[in-house]
Amino acid sequence: MKFFIDTANLEQIKEAQAMGILDGVTTNPSLMAKEGISGEENVINHYKAICEIVEGDVSAEVISTDYEGMIKEGEILAALHPQIVVKVPVTENGIKAIKYLSSKNIRTNCTLIFSAGQALLAAKAGATYVSPFIGRLDDNSTDGVELIKQIVDFFNYYGFETEVLAASIRHTMHIIKCLEAGADVATCPLSAIKGLLKHPLTDIGLAQFLADHAKAAKK
Ligand code: E4P
Repeated sequence: MKFFIDTANLEQIKEAQAMGILDGVTTNPSLMAKEGISGEENVINHYKAICEIVEGDVSAEVISTDYEGMIKEGEILAALHPQIVVKVPVTENGIKAIKYLSSKNIRTNCTLIFSAGQALLAAKAGATYVSPFIGRLDDNSTDGVELIKQIVDFFNYYGFETEVLAASIRHTMHIIKCLEAGADVATCPLSAIKGLLKHPLTDIGLAQFLADHAKAAKK
């Protein structure tokens, strides 16, 4: 399973990259706004800066909601860097835009997926990734990981090449559950990635090893 970091924060992206486990980055307009990035030039420069830090795919989301606007923006974003994947919402215009962009060999990430039917349309349009939002489903009394399983199963059954990118991950256990469900990618906050390291027996074991080593050195 590939690991993407779900942030537009350059320091966090650098930190995850330095761990040597990062396969890519996802952003969205809210994450860009959180970093105070606005205005076309600043947004473009920020995407370029992210691409300089990581080696993998970087999702950059279109703001337009009309078909013409989406494909124009998508082509501009894709031309910025070979690592850019154009993120498009799963609307009727979005599906048409994904179809057009994929016919031009521009990779896409179909976002705001909350049902298997939406994932089906995105895959048929040629999306590189679909992004089911598991945390937001959980917030609405619906099991987000179950949706990941359902999409993984039918993509495998019908041989769709579209990858399932589990998004809206809130905590470490979500990552483990997505691993079990067969997600191709998990895009996670840095805190959830770091949470994978935690185990009290590791801390206790390491403290014991170091104490024994120090004792032996005194003898
Ligand atoms: C990433 O592709 C999504 O935009 C992101 O994971 C959404 O996460 P949220 O539900 O925590 O905002």
